[in-house]
Amino acid sequence: MELKLKVNYKNVKINIDPTKRLIDFLREDLNLTGVKEGCSEGECGACTIILNEEAVTSCTILAGQVDGCEIITIEGLEQSGELDVIQKSFIENGAIQCGFCTPGMILSCKALLLKNPNPTEDEIKRAIEGNLCRCTGYNKIVKAVKDITVKEV
Ligand code: FES
Ligand code: FES
Repeated sequence: MELKLKVNYKNVKINIDPTKRLIDFLREDLNLTGVKEGCSEGECGACTIILNEEAVTSCTILAGQVDGCEIITIEGLEQSGELDVIQKSFIENGAIQCGFCTPGMILSCKALLLKNPNPTEDEIKRAIEGNLCRCTGYNKIVKAVKDITVKEV
């Protein structure tokens, strides 16, 4: 099928196998390898992307389901060589170790902040409960999100 969508603010038109998983389409066809594969079954959150402003796991969605949609991956957060405020805050707070969970974690946080620029600690925890990190523990990650003020998002 011909798939038309917007990825990282750019229009994409491409012929694809609609039964291909979205994670594979993003990594293999668009070379967006910031999308990570962990569990492959919707449990770890490593493959999280923002789809129409919602954080979703791209291993549980088929490419054929995203026609006409808007997707943001970690590659889309940096603008003109400038990291997104969430990326900066993760770095400043030491919220990254191996970094494998980080793209998905940051995108879950970004989706939260887009809707709710001033979340409580509980709301932050709820937003990242589907993202597993084996390295840092979650305190630094929660602090990284809390440090961001409304106007910076
Ligand atoms: S790889 Fe998709 S949720 Fe784990
Ligand atoms: S930083 Fe290693 S899994 Fe989160």
